[in-house]
Amino acid sequence: MKITQARVRIEKLRKELDYHNHLYFIEDRPELSDAQYDSLMQELRALEARFPDLITISSPTQRVGSNPSRAFNTVDHRIPMLSLANAYDTNDLYSWHNRAKKIIDADHFPMVCELKYDGVAVTLQYQDGIFAIGATRGNGTVGEDITSNLRTIKSIPLRLHKHHPPRLEVRGEVYLPKSEFLKLNSERIEQGLEPYSNPRNTASGSLRQLDPSVTASRHLDIFIYGLSGTENDVADSHIDTLDYLRELGFKINPNNKLVAEIMDVEKYHKEWTKNLDSLDYDCDGTVVKVNNLRYQALLGSIAREPRWAIAYKFPADQGYTRLIDIKVNVGRTGRINPYAEFEPVKVGGVIIKQATLHNEDYIRSKDLRIGDWVTVERAGDVIPQVKESDKSRRSGIEEPFLMPTNCPSCNYCLERNKNEAAVLCNNSYCPAQFTRLFEHFISKEAMNIEGMGGKLGLALIQHGLVSDIADIYYIERDSLLSLDRMGNKSTTNIMNSIEESKNRPLERCLYALGIEHVGIEASRLLSSQLGTIDMIMSATINDLQEIPTVGPRIAEAVHTYFSRTHNKKLVHKLRSVGLFSTSDSQDGSQSSSILRGLRFVVTGRLEAYTRTEVTSSIIALGGSISSTVSNRTNYLIAGSDGGSKLVDAGRLGIPVLSEDDFNAMIEQRPFHDDDA
Ligand code: IVH
Repeated sequence: MKITQARVRIEKLRKELDYHNHLYFIEDRPELSDAQYDSLMQELRALEARFPDLITISSPTQRVGSNPSRAFNTVDHRIPMLSLANAYDTNDLYSWHNRAKKIIDADHFPMVCELKYDGVAVTLQYQDGIFAIGATRGNGTVGEDITSNLRTIKSIPLRLHKHHPPRLEVRGEVYLPKSEFLKLNSERIEQGLEPYSNPRNTASGSLRQLDPSVTASRHLDIFIYGLSGTENDVADSHIDTLDYLRELGFKINPNNKLVAEIMDVEKYHKEWTKNLDSLDYDCDGTVVKVNNLRYQALLGSIAREPRWAIAYKFPADQGYTRLIDIKVNVGRTGRINPYAEFEPVKVGGVIIKQATLHNEDYIRSKDLRIGDWVTVERAGDVIPQVKESDKSRRSGIEEPFLMPTNCPSCNYCLERNKNEAAVLCNNSYCPAQFTRLFEHFISKEAMNIEGMGGKLGLALIQHGLVSDIADIYYIERDSLLSLDRMGNKSTTNIMNSIEESKNRPLERCLYALGIEHVGIEASRLLSSQLGTIDMIMSATINDLQEIPTVGPRIAEAVHTYFSRTHNKKLVHKLRSVGLFSTSDSQDGSQSSSILRGLRFVVTGRLEAYTRTEVTSSIIALGGSISSTVSNRTNYLIAGSDGGSKLVDAGRLGIPVLSEDDFNAMIEQRPFHDDDA
């Protein structure tokens, strides 16, 4: 056979195999017997072996690559992978719906009910219709490149059907079917191996195999639940988007349902609560999504959660046990947290003996008493909760809980802020708070000072070698050596990790300070928007709130923190040893920077982006956003109905970008950052 003939035959075989693969793995209605399918595959394999130049990455023979990798690269998510807010009962669901009604300014709007698959979130990028990159969610902004493993999942198309856009990114959930999980575990038991704990963890472990042939052997599956953003103008509703994705060849769950009213959502949820056993995959709730994409844009997102969707959780697994005691611990920021200790009970396959009780009001509202029989609940990875006490089983000896009046650690008089349920120890020198802060400061996500946790950390504090976190940088080698079980080698290692931690980027140093409400996401945002620790320290509450997605809680917490003298001194002390000076991340998770230094204002209604999406993209690419047009603005991005900001821009001579201009500007960025 000549190469030209081979090319034609190969393409024909690939088309047929793709088609039958789709019928088998996505539509579940095969037309060929396994033997017929295999024989086509054999023919293709033989031809490709004869004409290796004709092998392409999207050929059905190439699902399992041959080379195990040594580690996963990172992938920047151009559009962040968000999470969902949870609703645990009808009340939560209605509050979500009422808020959406207010924002949309309509009483009725269609919604899509979907199941919430309990698997692993992934994003799939297609370039010219070919599956190019697949990644995990990671921290939402940067994930791991698991393309080779995802390629082994037969329900992920390697080539899209006709009429695909040049670039497409879809999001979905990879799961291990329950039947496969059971099969896998019975094999493991037969081989004398420990069985896996649940399908979700097994799916996650399977996706993180360095050798794709191991992933392939697990028979994972996927449901696609949406586009990464609205960058492709394919539809005006979520349900139409899903139909479109189905036409491109993706596996969409057949139980998605478009409904008109919130009552229908309740009905869908109730029915699935009863019928979960009929599914071959685990689900932990209903995802409710506002159908109209214009409404979705209007609703936008807060923090990392869209307001246009909510996860309405199925009732959790429950247990019934005796509440033995209510104790308190002291948090990093001085919060006194009551928690329940109960007789160990098995809930959802896990033995639990403690649960958070949040605050005093929570305990009072449930009238929990020490000695009560209580129902405890656990949903997925959520911290166990005490649901209610069984009043009918009281004998009269049960005792109400009394919040201590003094801090259990430092005996300082506790205070309760007006309008707040939390009781606080406001002693800046409280040992328990300091221990928590120390643990936080050295933790992996913060300064990542290896080897300093556990007993050594406690010893440093107890011996008075560290009485504020900056003291870590003043520890002398000899003092470390004098501690129990510290040899030359371990001392050197720790001294090195302390030294090395001085290079952490601004966002990590800021996070390490442990400011209330300032998690790693908020730290990243504050650092990229304000640029230096001086700017952050001197920002007014207004400045802080101007930063998109920074709400009043964070703004106030940051401002209060830096208004306290001893915090200012602490930062000063940390700076004098070199902290806060590096603005770029040194650890490979650096976001791209083609918009670095550029300040944008956005106005009007955008077609392809929600406000949050455009904001996130700008920030992810190193730019910043402000809400008013001034001399310092570099560009105004204007959608339709721009208004007064356009006038301001015209007056100040600030260039105005259409959405397409903006896209073109960021398009210059390669689709996949190989340097990430
Ligand atoms: S939509 C904007 N739909 O739930 C958020 N997510 O907490 C986009 N998940 O990690 C999510 N089933 O992977 C959506 N039908 C569904 C889902 C679903 C499961 C997961 C998702 C994400 C998590 C969100």
